[in-house]
Amino acid sequence: MGKQRVLSGVQPTGNLHLGNYLGAIRNWVEIQDRFENYFCVVDLHAITVPHDAKALAENSYAIAALYLACGIDLEHSNIFIQSHISAHAELTWLLNCITPINWLQGMIQFKEKAVKQGQNVGTGLLDYPVLMAADILLYDADKVPVGEDQKQHIELTRDLAIRMNDQFGKKKKPVLKMPEPMIRKDGARVMSLTDGTKKMSKSDPSELSRIELLDSPETIAKKIKKCKTDPARGLEFDNPERPECHNLLTLYSILSGQRKETVATECAEIGWGQFKPLLTETAVEALRPIQEKYAEVMDDRSYLESVLRQGRESAEAIASATLDRVKTAMGFSTPV
Ligand code: TYM
Repeated sequence: MGKQRVLSGVQPTGNLHLGNYLGAIRNWVEIQDRFENYFCVVDLHAITVPHDAKALAENSYAIAALYLACGIDLEHSNIFIQSHISAHAELTWLLNCITPINWLQGMIQFKEKAVKQGQNVGTGLLDYPVLMAADILLYDADKVPVGEDQKQHIELTRDLAIRMNDQFGKKKKPVLKMPEPMIRKDGARVMSLTDGTKKMSKSDPSELSRIELLDSPETIAKKIKKCKTDPARGLEFDNPERPECHNLLTLYSILSGQRKETVATECAEIGWGQFKPLLTETAVEALRPIQEKYAEVMDDRSYLESVLRQGRESAEAIASATLDRVKTAMGFSTPV
């Protein structure tokens, strides 16, 4: 039996932060040799909020370079840009036509982002989860490694697969494969540095709220120095009264590669003045190899282009076969 297939993606909106890395990309790297992997840069998703046309293409390349810098290995994985494969947009349309609108109106991320945008909410923002479902279903993905915040979108993807199969599949021959989320416990929800009850997010107006993968050591030091803490002495996990403390210790544990118990013992007696330099040094050292590799990849445009070309070719073959299958099941005529 062949390997199971994995698909996941990140939007090229702004720089990636520790949440994106620990919640998603780090896990892709860790599991990649057990699966056949497709990692896309989801640029069609990036335009569901107002975007800068001058920066979009370059941001997409930068994210692809970061995938490589974080350790995505082309022996096991393919990297491609979503908009280079038109089947994503086309399957979205087909799925739109079987998606009840109230399924989309109830999505948590839509409601959050719509509130942030105020009056001028585009249809694309409402449709975001259907495009994401198309990304996943096009590749017959078995597993979708993501952070906790994407769970609801994957549930919708599964509901859409069921609906398509019920309406257009044959009993023994479903049209679409049922994917499963893959959400790791540690790092699945990295919180903001300025408020331990809020998710670390690219769209937070304060840059101090997140550590970006390409932040310089000085910037990392500054952000950790200014991050929110509490007056208690001695650091601990899992105290609901101390969300910042839990978040920062979790970051330290994952980035230093130490078990939670070890960190809990190490930090039980220390204060913030001692802990902050420790976390700074750990974060700087964890990000250093990623930043070095990123600079190397960004320096070799033709290499990056060849990676994306190859990724597109492999992805396109699978995507177009699935799209044909769906169109046939839905009763479209074949082109003559
Ligand atoms: P994006 O770019 O918003 O997030 C990319 C990945 O980062 C994870 N993530 C986090 N994990 C832990 N803590 C955080 N604070 C945090 N913030 C973000 C997200 O869960 C995600 O895994 N909709 C997707 C992009 C997408 C996609 C797909 C993913 C489009 N099509 C198909 C998987 C499969 C998203 O959230 O992008």
